[in-house]
Amino acid sequence: MKKMTGAFLAALVTTTYAIAEPVDDTLVVNEDIAIVTRTAAPAHMADAVDEVMSGWLFRGSETRDMQRDDFDNPGMIFVEKAEEAWNTAEGSEGKSCASCHNGSDSMAGVRPVYPKWNEAAGEVRTLEMQINDCRETRMGAEPWKYTGGDMANMTALLASVSRGLPVNVAIDGPAQSTWEQGREMYYARTGQLELSCANCHEDNYGNMIRADHLSQGQINGFPTYRLKNTKLNSVHARFKGCVRDTRAETYKPGSADFVALELYVASRGNGLSVEGPSVRN
Ligand code: HEC
Ligand code: HEC
Repeated sequence: MKKMTGAFLAALVTTTYAIAEPVDDTLVVNEDIAIVTRTAAPAHMADAVDEVMSGWLFRGSETRDMQRDDFDNPGMIFVEKAEEAWNTAEGSEGKSCASCHNGSDSMAGVRPVYPKWNEAAGEVRTLEMQINDCRETRMGAEPWKYTGGDMANMTALLASVSRGLPVNVAIDGPAQSTWEQGREMYYARTGQLELSCANCHEDNYGNMIRADHLSQGQINGFPTYRLKNTKLNSVHARFKGCVRDTRAETYKPGSADFVALELYVASRGNGLSVEGPSVRN
């Protein structure tokens, strides 16, 4: 079976010398926010790669340019929508996010440390889980659908106020066992094609797969506005798509498995800047 996988990947992936490397380019948003798009790999994965790189470096010049200015970034329309939601009271308590958190810029520094251990709940929480916890327990409002539009918009707002700050999720202490579960998932070969995340995003980044330039599969740019489906895409929706591509049964967005995988994948980008909402193919 291993052989078949090798042959399959070899058939799928084509290396062309000229495009085997990501571009040499730098990203400054609004001529103001410097984004770290490549940096030394975090210690925990130094055996696997030397450098970690944002997916931005693997996109074409037009797609990259859209992220240089908020007026050109279609993802920012959704940030504006979320800003409205932030200030709108909802639920039985008659409160908005702003009632307790003031301006959305008070959330600067929050995105980079999620997923994060929540002591009171005794669990690792994604940003989506925390937002829904505030909606349910503090506002008396209905939770948002995990990968739905309202939720993606709010995560885009919370990412946008942290742009330029380095991803810095904790992988030790009470989060360690969740992180280890995520790492196991990342390296596990699944599906009819017996491919792991690492087979594509660690062994083959820089290569072409079908018509796509393979990146390291980083999540520092999430949520991503994709030109392909012209909307914001959340981390778990992206994971689901990639798992489905290996023809494996996929996990549910918001499931404990995907939370663990998200923590691990986030930790592979420790040191890269938050750049959501980013623009991708
Ligand atoms: C009634 C007050 C209240 C409202 C309304 C509220 N929150 Fe919170 N929120 C809190 C408190 C208190 C905490 C810290 C508690 C905790 O860590 O569990 C918190 C924590 C958070 C955090 C995590 C911050 C961190 O540093 O880890 C996020 C993100 C968040 N809220 C988002 C929102 C959003 C988005 C809304 C609106 C949809 C909202 N909250 C509405 C009270 C509120
Ligand atoms: C068969 C190869 C393949 C496998 C296996 C695969 N992916 Fe992907 N993935 C892709 C391609 C192709 C893209 C789109 C181009 C790119 O950004 O790399 C992509 C994109 C992504 C992105 C978006 C990156 C960005 O900057 O927007 C993430 C995140 C991601 N993959 C995570 C994963 C995870 C986690 C797994 C394992 C569960 C996985 N992928 C398995 C091929 C794969």
